[in-house]
Amino acid sequence: MAHQSDMIADDILGYLKSHETKSLLRFITCGSVDDGKSTLIGRLLYESKMIFEDQLAALEADSKRLGTQGQDIDFALLVDGLAAEREQGITIDVAYRFFSTDKRKFIVADTPGHEQYTRNMATGASTADVAILMIDARKGILTQTRRHSFIVSLLGIKHVVLAVNKLDMVDYDRAVYDQIVEDYREFSAPLNLESITPIPMSALKGDNIVDKSGKTPWYNGPTLMAYLETVDVVDTLESAAFRMPVQWVNRPDLDFRGFSGMIAAGSIKPGDKVKALPSTKESTVKSIVTMTGDLPNAVAGQSVTITLTDEIDISRGDVLCEADSPAPVADQFQATILWMNEAEMLPGRTYLMKTGATTAQATVAAPKHAIDVNTMEHLASKTLSLNEIGVCNLNLDRNIAFDPYAENRDMGGFILIDRISNETVGVGMIDFALRRASNIHMQALEIDKGARAELKGQKPVMLWFTGLSGSGKSTIANALEQKLHALGRHTYILDGDNVRHGLNKDLGFTDADRVENIRRVSEVGKLMVDAGMITLVSFISPFRSERRMARQMLEEGEFVEVHVDTPLEVAEERDVKGLYKKARKGEIKNFTGIDSPYEPPKTPEIRIATTDMSPDEAADQLLAFLREKGYLA
Ligand code: ADX
Repeated sequence: MAHQSDMIADDILGYLKSHETKSLLRFITCGSVDDGKSTLIGRLLYESKMIFEDQLAALEADSKRLGTQGQDIDFALLVDGLAAEREQGITIDVAYRFFSTDKRKFIVADTPGHEQYTRNMATGASTADVAILMIDARKGILTQTRRHSFIVSLLGIKHVVLAVNKLDMVDYDRAVYDQIVEDYREFSAPLNLESITPIPMSALKGDNIVDKSGKTPWYNGPTLMAYLETVDVVDTLESAAFRMPVQWVNRPDLDFRGFSGMIAAGSIKPGDKVKALPSTKESTVKSIVTMTGDLPNAVAGQSVTITLTDEIDISRGDVLCEADSPAPVADQFQATILWMNEAEMLPGRTYLMKTGATTAQATVAAPKHAIDVNTMEHLASKTLSLNEIGVCNLNLDRNIAFDPYAENRDMGGFILIDRISNETVGVGMIDFALRRASNIHMQALEIDKGARAELKGQKPVMLWFTGLSGSGKSTIANALEQKLHALGRHTYILDGDNVRHGLNKDLGFTDADRVENIRRVSEVGKLMVDAGMITLVSFISPFRSERRMARQMLEEGEFVEVHVDTPLEVAEERDVKGLYKKARKGEIKNFTGIDSPYEPPKTPEIRIATTDMSPDEAADQLLAFLREKGYLA
């Protein structure tokens, strides 16, 4: 092998050229330091004689370093996979290392192996083609081996190397090796792995890493390096039906309109018929444009710009598909989710779901079950905590084109983002679409909201009162309703205490129950607005996220947030229902303001400082607002 550092010094262009045409293999190493993982990686880097043994360490630390490395091509590759996560502010403790040989380029994701790092491991595994599972020959298959195997298979890795390491410590005993291989094959049978390649080795001594070891004459398989250089990971993606999520619409002037993105599956050439989803509009490929000229065809993995023969309406996030076998389209899914946030998942809450180039709003239902990552057993669970994996249904605000994750990682993988903090809180894999939605159609009704409201001579609105318990929400809402009623207006009050006696009888005061409480009352409130009513909703509604959800369910101007702003000391001092006293004594758990959070609105339409005015004055203020804004026209 030409010494790469010499070549870089003497003929940088030649080096870069040869480098560009080499295929890239991404792999992940699973195991702990004790298993010899670092030794192994160190040896691979050393043996490949790379001069720029870069250490793209944890994201929080690496941004400065990124700018100091001068190897553009490769760093772009490295950084791409992380850009989305970095934008989302997630702290990933995954070290990506790069090396290359004459035959291939490699990116190793090195992730910590402990259970509390499951999310880090999943991040590394999500882009890898091969996983190296490190086994200490003295210890055999451990719980962590099972956990790593499960996560690896869940994230869609098809090829596993069983690196039976530290064989020098057991005198290169073939029986020990054979037993481990047998144990692993038995355990991993249900895991859907395409290939398992066991290799006896000693990373420390260099046995079977790059050179065949004389200590294992009974072993006829490849060395680790030979395996990595030759393993065929070009899977069936290229022969699958064409898919390309549109990353952006390229329209430099009126004469050119192209759709850019990375081909997620299949191949494409001019003349091919394509269908845009979810719109289902069809057209024909005119050309495939790249920086260096038009292409006769392009395949999965390539980033291209496609022009079409017709002017059809396609926007960012749509998916171009082979016309005769388009991707399915749905708005409800079963998915497997790995939770990545310190705060547990809140079933009923709406998160942003980002898949391919699309973002939708997704409401996550309570898990059907969680999965024990060590045993793969199903567990009953109401939520998912940090590093937990579970199967949940998702309900989207609109249709998206997808393929199951098992068929295509790009088309079926997604992340969940908290809408308030903008953090990535989970990663998910679409299992399949739920067909319910497509069999239930919205009925068109002849009498609409406008007609109902007109008859009542008012503009429907939802006045959303939020504030601490005992802040005065219900009292003010009550006073306002009386005034409106006296004016002949059609009103209704949805009050937390009352609704909790009926529709929401089954809910308590955990975060999850409050989320569900607000979700339900928002839906009911929306129906009331649709009925043309002036709807007063009086719930603590402690979370911004759910208040925002309620706002987004309605049309512009229909949602008026009223912050009944009473300081905790004042509400506690008043203690109309005697609940604060009980909460302080510990007789009531999760009491808002005491041991359960309240997130005050940042920009409510109206803020009522109850320490400055009486409930009657507050009601007058609201009435004036309604008049002024034309709700009582
Ligand atoms: S919310 O947080 O889910 O919006 P909601 O408005 O429905 O609460 O109900 C709040 C009312 O329930 C309070 O006014 C109080 O009377 C009663 N309550 C009982 N337990 C609690 C609790 N732990 N926290 C807050 N309110 C409670």
